[in-house]
Amino acid sequence: MDGNGRWAAKRGMPRLIGHKRGANRVKDIVKASPDLGVDTLTLYAFSTENWKRAAHEVEGLMKLFRGYLQNHLLELNEKNVRVRFFGDPTPLAADIRKQMDFLTDLTKDNTLLNLNIAINYGGRDELVRAIRTIARQVSTGETAIQDIGEDTISDALDTRGQCDPDLIIRTAGELRLSNFMTWQSAYSEFAFIKESWPDFTPEVYEATLVNFRSRTRQFGAVVPRAADATE
Ligand code: FPP
Repeated sequence: MDGNGRWAAKRGMPRLIGHKRGANRVKDIVKASPDLGVDTLTLYAFSTENWKRAAHEVEGLMKLFRGYLQNHLLELNEKNVRVRFFGDPTPLAADIRKQMDFLTDLTKDNTLLNLNIAINYGGRDELVRAIRTIARQVSTGETAIQDIGEDTISDALDTRGQCDPDLIIRTAGELRLSNFMTWQSAYSEFAFIKESWPDFTPEVYEATLVNFRSRTRQFGAVVPRAADATE
């Protein structure tokens, strides 16, 4: 969800106003997802590197997360949305962690949309935590070294039990992954959108998905394309 700061600066406003507009956009995009055929949506809300920002910006973002969790808890549940969180929650404030646990538990049987919110998430940090988990399993004899495979790693990640992302969308024109889903993105498609996150309307979202659905995905194999089948 990149470009909140630039969106605000362009309008002569403080960066936090951009994040606030970004949080409003989150609501529209979550609401639009099921109608657009999306069953799993992951929002990269705060990276393991975002702590390096000015203290007042970090505090402002935490306030926004707190507000979003408090204000949308019941609505998300009523709308049949299952909410889960990716990332290491340890450095987050106790009340935010409590809300996260409560919402995860409250919505665990919901089926309309899987909404994952990545907070204090980094793809490398997730792999480090997964390797520690697997090392513990090896040391207790629960897993044998020769049995470690791709599934062992997938099952130790925050995304365990969920599918790899089909499409990763980054707004605001930067052409980087920035530590997002390092393992899971092996065969993801990418959409780099020029609009900043506050301008990522449901219409832009829909156009992005239409473009994605027109692509041929081969996953390393060779799939005959319609144009090749004429002879
Ligand atoms: C990146 O834009 C955005 C963030 C680090 C924060 C994203 C957070 C929200 C949209 C707020 C609410 C989220 C939820 C889940 C309720 P940037 O600040 O790096 O923008 P810039 O590159 O233009 O400076």
